[in-house]
Amino acid sequence: MKHLEQDVERILLTKEEIAAKVSEMAQEMGEFYQDKEVVMVCILKGSITFFADLVRGLSFPAIFDFMCVSSYGCGSVSGGSVRILKDLTVDITDKHVLIVEDILDTGNTLSALLEQLKARRPASLKLCCLLDKPDRRTKPIKADFVGFSIPDEFVVGYGLDYDEKYRQLPYVGVLKRSVYEH
Ligand code: PRP
Repeated sequence: MKHLEQDVERILLTKEEIAAKVSEMAQEMGEFYQDKEVVMVCILKGSITFFADLVRGLSFPAIFDFMCVSSYGCGSVSGGSVRILKDLTVDITDKHVLIVEDILDTGNTLSALLEQLKARRPASLKLCCLLDKPDRRTKPIKADFVGFSIPDEFVVGYGLDYDEKYRQLPYVGVLKRSVYEH
């Protein structure tokens, strides 16, 4: 992994810090949902590492499902819109649903996605994200469960990519500017 690590300027969150936070979040969710059954929705691809660690700490019955979405971006579409590349396989009507995201950035993707999922009439719809970049927000959206609030820096690792790479790093690191600025 040396070739990946040399592109990282500094480690923002160590794997130990992440592990401690993820189990804290799982506990918080357990207190919130008690013994309700919850459809845990992993938003591909960035959330896969967080999702895999999080679900192992859950005390309530969880159903797994996966979605892959692509934002139309930049809020140019009124009200925001997402293209669903892979939809859920579970019918979420009358179910408790928790969206699991790696990062909440501008909020464009998630605010549009939440609108679309709300139309399917779940019993409840909540959002959790490991990382939150509040400074970048352009949509009035807040996650119900947040891991870390982080500054506006280009972060990779623990599922997050640049150009589809670096997802495998076990920590969250700040990418060197030279990697993405030419
Ligand atoms: C990331 C993240 C969210 C979105 C957040 O996904 O997983 O879905 O961007 O950004 P926003 O708040 O500005 O909308 P990305 O499009 O990078 O895809 P990936 O998960 O496959 O890496």
